[in-house]
Amino acid sequence: MADIFEKVIRNMGPLGAHIKEAHGYFTFPKLEGEIGPKMVFNGREKLNWSLNNYLGLANHPEVRKADADAAAQYGMAYPMGARMMSGNSNPHEQLEKELAAFVGKEDAILLNFGYQGVVSIIDAMVDRHDVIVYDAESHACIVDGVRLHQGHRFQFKHNDMESCEKQLQRATRLVEKTGGGIFVITEGVFGMSGNQGDLRGVVALKDKYNFRLFIDDAHGFGTIGKTGSGAAEEQGVVDQIDLHFSTFAKSMASIGAFVAGPKAILDFLRYNLRSQIYAKSLPMPLVVGALKRLDLIRSQPEHKENLWKIVNALQSGLKEAGFNIGTTSTPVTPVVLSGTVAESTHLTFDLRENYDIFCSIVVYPVIPKGLIILRLIPTAAHSLADVERTIKAFKEIKQNLELGKYNQDEVVNAFL
Ligand SMILES: Cc1ncc(COP(=O)(O)O)c(C=O)c1O
Repeated sequence: MADIFEKVIRNMGPLGAHIKEAHGYFTFPKLEGEIGPKMVFNGREKLNWSLNNYLGLANHPEVRKADADAAAQYGMAYPMGARMMSGNSNPHEQLEKELAAFVGKEDAILLNFGYQGVVSIIDAMVDRHDVIVYDAESHACIVDGVRLHQGHRFQFKHNDMESCEKQLQRATRLVEKTGGGIFVITEGVFGMSGNQGDLRGVVALKDKYNFRLFIDDAHGFGTIGKTGSGAAEEQGVVDQIDLHFSTFAKSMASIGAFVAGPKAILDFLRYNLRSQIYAKSLPMPLVVGALKRLDLIRSQPEHKENLWKIVNALQSGLKEAGFNIGTTSTPVTPVVLSGTVAESTHLTFDLRENYDIFCSIVVYPVIPKGLIILRLIPTAAHSLADVERTIKAFKEIKQNLELGKYNQDEVVNAFL
């Protein structure tokens, strides 16, 4: 008989395996100081490209004031209890109304955390007779929601509409027998590649197949679309999205999330979303703070304009310098290099210690073996000088990588 504690200590998982060399440096780093392009890491100022503070709202003076005033007025407890029991308020409902209008839907519901919200939405919407069809590169919250599903689930190749159609055909054959329905799930913007989900492509399949479409647009909210409402607006398919999810964790620089759609369906979710029924509602400062952020997104388009000035400069500069940035059409900027996990750590160490540039690295098992992705998140708060400095540094580290300078057997031990 095994002891559960001994088992997990023996196998800490693919990321936990490097805890000794990585914890506090590559994993669980502490970025200190005001949120922005320059933050302190390990006691030194770094140029920071790793926060999803797309619009630079985290430290906007009006946002900081709204948050502080609301905390002073309400504290962090009010309203106590789950929404359904004793945790409702007029500002909660006001925010839902404004979010729904912003993304072009009839109604919306606040969610405490996007992750739990998505898991719970999927859980509530389908039963064992239904079939889920979802994109292979879906975020972990979608994957976990799908794992809860007791019926069939079919994955289609990332953004591949032929594969999506094939899975819809399989799903259609199945539901004809079970009497269930089909729930298609994809993302507005995929957070690793920066690809937009092919929403137009999926929507076009509605002509031939009967299904409902749920999108996670965590990275699209505030960054794309004419008014900034996201990928559906950008692709002109707002009305064809059945359920629209986004989080406050990115452009809104806060915590919380929402799902929007037709009122009758949202009423069903209000009374069936386990992550909300059995959990305390969002504290008032988060709600009041979100109202302020939404107001700024609607009334100050210059934040999105500034974001795109930086995005365009960064992405075109990297491309001109010969970097592979994949197929991004959004601010998410992956720089794809070839190398081992060990090399990726030496390269990142060099970038952080000698160039004072901080960005996230993505390696196996998150992406295939042999690839390294340096993931840059430009924001409205960055400057063109930041972009120039970064491209120059990236050219040098790429050259070092190609010359084998980072070619070592072991991952870097950042603490030696
Ligand atoms: C695509 C996507 N969906 C959902 C989430 C989860 O949102 P939250 O941070 O509100 O739990 C994230 C990350 O924040 C995300 O990137």
